[in-house]
Amino acid sequence: MKTVIYTQYGPPEVLQVVEAPKPLPKEDEVLVRVHATTVTIGDTIMRSLRVPGPWWQRLAARIYLGIGKPKRRTLGMELAGQVESTGEAVTRFQPGDPVFASTFAVDFGGYAEYKCLPETGVLAIKPSNLSYAEAAAVPGGGMTALQCLRNGNLQAGQQILIYGASGAVGTYAVQLASQHFEAEVTGVCSTANVELVRSLGATHIVDYTQQDFSAAEARYDIVFDAVGKASPAQAKQVLRPGGTYLNVHTTSDGSDSAENLCFLKELIEAGKLRPVIDRCYTLDEIVEAHRYVDQGHKRGNVVVTVA
Ligand SMILES: NC(=O)c1ccc[n+]([C@@H]2O[C@H](COP(=O)([O-])OP(=O)(O)OC[C@H]3O[C@@H](n4cnc5c(N)ncnc54)[C@H](OP(=O)(O)O)[C@@H]3O)[C@@H](O)[C@H]2O)c1
Repeated sequence: MKTVIYTQYGPPEVLQVVEAPKPLPKEDEVLVRVHATTVTIGDTIMRSLRVPGPWWQRLAARIYLGIGKPKRRTLGMELAGQVESTGEAVTRFQPGDPVFASTFAVDFGGYAEYKCLPETGVLAIKPSNLSYAEAAAVPGGGMTALQCLRNGNLQAGQQILIYGASGAVGTYAVQLASQHFEAEVTGVCSTANVELVRSLGATHIVDYTQQDFSAAEARYDIVFDAVGKASPAQAKQVLRPGGTYLNVHTTSDGSDSAENLCFLKELIEAGKLRPVIDRCYTLDEIVEAHRYVDQGHKRGNVVVTVA
């Protein structure tokens, strides 16, 4: 099968398209024929080892990812595809099932034509109204946004400011906060993304190229930094007394589960949530896809079609 590996940290050119043996599912696994995966900012961080944050966080990441070279050679933390075969003990899925999944807990592997996943993993039947390309872009950003908003205990009628509203996490957070949690959303984004963020459900917009959100008079029950680029002190400045500050880097614990994937599928099928797709690349164009995401300005998600 065709797959993408990297054996050293570095620029997008360290990614190589190679041939590898097709994996065989174990007793409790399904073999998925991957139709689409994505390039997230997380993939580019793991490829380059340019880990944001203080030194101890960078050290911990280096130990997790591999000191001298990457331990996990195939990136791609989310995918959508069709179940091709199943292990003998599998009961939840059968050949032909259209699925979408997170590969975060199984050492990644979306950048490949086939991937084995445990049936008890973060895996669910794909939303019926999405293509494989669209469905691949749901797990990471969707579950992260959902869990952060749940952890913040967002309530109907509350006012929330979402910083970084045009990214993968941000575009899901704006839709979930407005349509599922029924909160009043203020989205912070740049001029080019104002209409997009409004169309996703933000009632108010702050264009960060024109205005400092922390200098405004408005106050919020929750401030969610969905891109991790606002200063916490500035964010806390616009909170009401007793308000909650959420940061995508510290508040998303517990997001990855099959239950959360199924929950997102229901919202998508009910027309309350949709993935925003910026660009699509093929697996052979993986280097260009990483170059684009490296710039830090994608709108929503970048998809890689595999088959
Ligand atoms: N995506 C996932 O699956 C996932 C899962 C867990 C955690 N995370 C973490 O969550 C964070 C965000 O990830 P993401 O995938 O949502 O990022 P992303 O999609 O790569 O973010 C890019 C977006 O952020 C906006 N942006 C860039 N700089 C900004 C700034 N200074 N102020 C406001 N907006 C800015 C950009 O819009 P402009 O160019 O218009 O500014 C662009 O639309 C990352 O740290 C990531 O590691 C992501």
